[in-house]
Formats: sequence, structure tokens, C-alpha cells
Amino acid sequence: WGVQGHRVVGRIAENHLTDKARKQIAQLLGSERLPLVTTWADEARYSPDFSFTAPWHFINTPLGLPFAEYSATVTAMTQPNAYMALLQNMKDMKDATKTYQERVTALKFVVHIVGDVHQPMHVSRAEDKGGNAINVKFEGKDTNLHSLWDSGLINYEGMSYLELAALLDHPTAAQTTQWQKDSVPTWLFESYTISQRLYAETEQAPELDYRYVPAHLPTVEQRLLQAGIRLAGVLNSAFN
Ligand code: ADE
Ligand code: ZN
Ligand code: ZN
Repeated sequence: WGVQGHRVVGRIAENHLTDKARKQIAQLLGSERLPLVTTWADEARYSPDFSFTAPWHFINTPLGLPFAEYSATVTAMTQPNAYMALLQNMKDMKDATKTYQERVTALKFVVHIVGDVHQPMHVSRAEDKGGNAINVKFEGKDTNLHSLWDSGLINYEGMSYLELAALLDHPTAAQTTQWQKDSVPTWLFESYTISQRLYAETEQAPELDYRYVPAHLPTVEQRLLQAGIRLAGVLNSAFN
């Protein structure tokens, strides 16, 4: 996601933290706030210190795999990727043998990567760099499929991140329970299923017309909400 998407995810997660998790996170972050640190990983990746984390933002596989094969493929991958980085940083952020700074950095990666793996075009295929190389026209302007899903559709809503978080943050109790139970490969497979559909659609019709926003905004909103709820679940169980 772009800045706004990540902040929406952070804000929704913040709304669903237990008191215990909220306190421990506040201690780690000091004067920084959760919605704002969600974008730190995108700033860090362009610095030489953190350039090695560039592959931590996405995961690419061949398309068309059923869940069991997809799951087996991502868990067996040895190249750095979002799945591997998420598991490692989830472990590191609560590892008492790590320095305070190391745990803070790990937390900042977790809050970012949970967001990114819910952006369908971050769970995609390598040939077109997750849609970065697929040019589309949206509102009469040239853009690409990746950027449209990172930020184009969200910006179209014309809301602040706080407004959008407040608008979306109404999961049912059953949704919250189910989403927080789902495994990380399940989150990935949902994104993967959506990105395949988006690839197929844009191959058919690269000029996106007036039907595109109403057809896809509900999906964007659902992915942001699920990411926020699941991030809260991850943080609540890490800092309980
Ligand atoms: N570069 C290669 N694949 C990518 C993806 N899925 N998302 C963002 N950047 C990428
Ligand atoms: Zn992106
Ligand atoms: Zn990212």
C-alpha cells in the first residue's frame, strides 16, 4: 500500500489492541504512534542500511496454484520475501535476547508487512513486478496496476486516513474471530486469488472505465479492514 493504506491499517489495529498490548507497544515506540510508524519500512528500504529489506514487501510465485501447493511453495521459498520476513520479525519483536532497538525495528516491519501482504498486487507474479509493469489508464491518466491498488483507488475516496479507518472499522464479532484465526498463508492466498483475477481482467480490458471503482473499492476496503484486524491479533498475542 501507499502511505494512506498503511496508516488506515495501523489505525484500525490500534482500535483493537488489548490494554496489555497497547501499553507494551507504547513502551517500545516511545513518542512515536502506531499508524505513523506503519510506513517506516518503505522509507528505510531506500537507505543503504536497509536496502537488504527491499524483497520483504512482496512475494511472487507462479499463478494458478491451489491452496495446498501455494502454501507449500511459499513456506519452502529460500529467497527473502514478505512471508519469511513477517515470521522472522514477529519472532524478533518479542525476543527478550534482542536489544530494545532491534525489537522496535522488528515491530515496525511487522506493522508494515501485515499491511503489504493484504494488498493483492504484493502477492503476485515476478514477470511484471506485481503489476508495476502493467500500464493502465485510470481517470484519463497513465498509471500501472500496482500503483492503482497501492494508492489510486484509496486516494479516489478523498478521505483522511482517520476518516477512512473510522468508516471501515465495523467488523462483525464473527469476522474478527475468524480473521484473527486465519493463518498467514491464508492471508497470502486471499491476496493471490484476488491478484490473479485483476491480472485476467486487465488483460481483457486495459482501459479501466467507469465501472472499475464501484467494482473494486469494496475489495480494497475489505483488505484494509482484514489487515488491521489481523495486525491487532498478531500484536495482542505477541504482547499478552
Ligand atoms: N517487485 C517485484 N515484485 C513486486 C511486487 N509484487 N510488489 C512490489 N514490488 C515488486
Ligand atoms: Zn506496493
Ligand atoms: Zn511496503
